[in-house]
Amino acid sequence: MAGRYDVIVLGAGAAGMMCAIRAGQRGRSVVVLDHAGAPGEKIRISGGGRCNFTNIHAGPKNFLSANPHFAKSALARFTPQDFIALVARHGIAWHEKTLGQLFCDNSAKDIIRMLTDEMRAAGVQLRLRTEVGDIEQSAAGYRVSTSEGVFEATSLVIATGGKSIPKMGATGFAYRIAEQFGLPVVETRPGLVPLTLDPQLLQLMSPLSGIAAPAELRHGKTAFREALLFTHRGLSGPAILQISSYWREGEDITVVIEPDIDVFGLLKRAKQANGRQSAQTALAEILPKRLAQHFVESEGVAGNMADQSDKRLQQLASAIQSWSVKPSGSEGYRTAEVTLGGIDTASLDSRTMQAKTVPGLFFIGECVDVTGWLGGYNFQWAWASGHVAGEAV
Ligand code: FDA
Repeated sequence: MAGRYDVIVLGAGAAGMMCAIRAGQRGRSVVVLDHAGAPGEKIRISGGGRCNFTNIHAGPKNFLSANPHFAKSALARFTPQDFIALVARHGIAWHEKTLGQLFCDNSAKDIIRMLTDEMRAAGVQLRLRTEVGDIEQSAAGYRVSTSEGVFEATSLVIATGGKSIPKMGATGFAYRIAEQFGLPVVETRPGLVPLTLDPQLLQLMSPLSGIAAPAELRHGKTAFREALLFTHRGLSGPAILQISSYWREGEDITVVIEPDIDVFGLLKRAKQANGRQSAQTALAEILPKRLAQHFVESEGVAGNMADQSDKRLQQLASAIQSWSVKPSGSEGYRTAEVTLGGIDTASLDSRTMQAKTVPGLFFIGECVDVTGWLGGYNFQWAWASGHVAGEAV
């Protein structure tokens, strides 16, 4: 029902629901409006359907923002342990997969059910399939015109996410609202996204499609050690998604395959032990066969190990462990997990997420210029920013 509330939250995603719960628990009358047919659609598909709902190591260092200090306050006031306690209260079983990443044992739907149950318990109204039109300031606060009528409230929370996965209803709506109210937006771009290669390199790499290997990906002073995946479009896997958030068009990244192994040392030992074997056979000890073949061929290494000088072996090892590659681009918002940039944090109060110059207007979650690494950090930001706004609305 259209009508008057204390708080209108636009967006029934992770951040919006969290904010609504906290505000409802504080006795505020809250309505959450969303154009989608179901709440938390990104939660549902996250973490391969098991939702990597937080990371026990989450701290400000795991986030990109024009102001790296901005996220500190919210992250300190609603921690991974706070979210774990909520999950425990709802009897949801979870496990740590790797690197502090926590996943549901069963299904991401458990998290959505938990949030909708909490909203219900806090008296929050959820209005789905509601198209949002004009937003105006009124004497009482904000007037939001929708396909279901006009809603009014003292506080308006924008939790409509970023631009990633437009197929799922991502709209860039928050940035338009920021512009309407004169708030600056840090340039947005796709983050946590597979990188593409130019056609020539892609053709050369095409036999490698489907191969995964442990790798360290470096860009400037930033490095991530996780799996690298060769695809029919270019490079993907957790290591690439992580570094993609730091990479800009035209720049190189350095790929170190099998970073825990001294490949040159291994080749030298192999040469001593069995000079008659091929370099490809020696490399196949540590690399998938097709990958070993690719490097041997691309470096033009012919003959058996006894024929190779140390310099030659060093070149081969460098190709594997110091591979400088210039991606041609990224797969864009179509597959990006997050949107980098967003509402400039300089215009928001870090304790409440309220716009400094527009009383009663709040921005939370992915639409803000705070973007986490891969691994549960983005949900932790959604919960934390939603919670602190829910305390303030
Ligand atoms: P979110 O996008 O979740 O919600 C926004 C809501 O606003 C949506 O319900 C949308 O329908 C609604 N909306 C948008 N425009 C609107 C409009 N104009 N009018 C009305 N409603 C509107 N992170 C993580 O930490 N762990 C993980 O495992 C994953 N996995 C993952 C997988 C995939 C495939 C993707 C795409 C992303 C992830 N993420 C993730 C990232 C994570 O999903 C993301 O950071 C959060 O969902 C952001 O939460 P928000 O609430 O800010 O936006």
